[in-house]
Amino acid sequence: KNIVILISGGGSNMAAIVRAAQRGEWAHRHDAQVAAVVSNRPDAGGLAFAREQGIAAEVVDHKQFEGREPFEAQLVAAIDRHQPWLVALAGFMRILTPGFVGRYQGRLLNIHPSLLPAFPGLHTHRRAIEAGCRFAGATVHQVTAELDHGPILEQAVVPVLPGDTEAALAARVLTQEHRIYPRAIEALLRGGL
Ligand code: GRF
Repeated sequence: KNIVILISGGGSNMAAIVRAAQRGEWAHRHDAQVAAVVSNRPDAGGLAFAREQGIAAEVVDHKQFEGREPFEAQLVAAIDRHQPWLVALAGFMRILTPGFVGRYQGRLLNIHPSLLPAFPGLHTHRRAIEAGCRFAGATVHQVTAELDHGPILEQAVVPVLPGDTEAALAARVLTQEHRIYPRAIEALLRGGL
């Protein structure tokens, strides 16, 4: 079972999944492995981590393409070369067309830094603080055509503390993301996708 992880930046969620695969012996217990990391940004820090772990690390630079469809055609080719059992978006910052989502729906996950359905979209931590929320968190969900709205697999809650800056809350949430994303994938491996 090949897991392909899509990143755009540091890839800390990708790294957490890779570590869980190594620690949890997913290869032995579930015949599962992270087969590739694909980034839309050539400068994504996560690419170096993947390479250090001996994982195929590929770039499909969206800036090299005119329009969403040509970019996604190359992205699909890169992903499908690894015959994915699961495609995990992890800090992947491109909106995907319904065509792409339809191709992988049911085996396409994302992690979003809010307690969906609250705060879909961007700047979730700032919005939670400005709204006076007492709690914030993260959500692992199935990706559907509607942005940040698919079936929820895992969530984690963190307190919003008095005087919290956006950075402080983001760091607190990110720590939980690194727990729940591997847990969600492990649950799929145990329970079948
Ligand atoms: C973080 O803001 C995280 O909350 C969201 O994507 C961003 C980058 O994550 N999921 P990562 O370190 O690239 O996994």
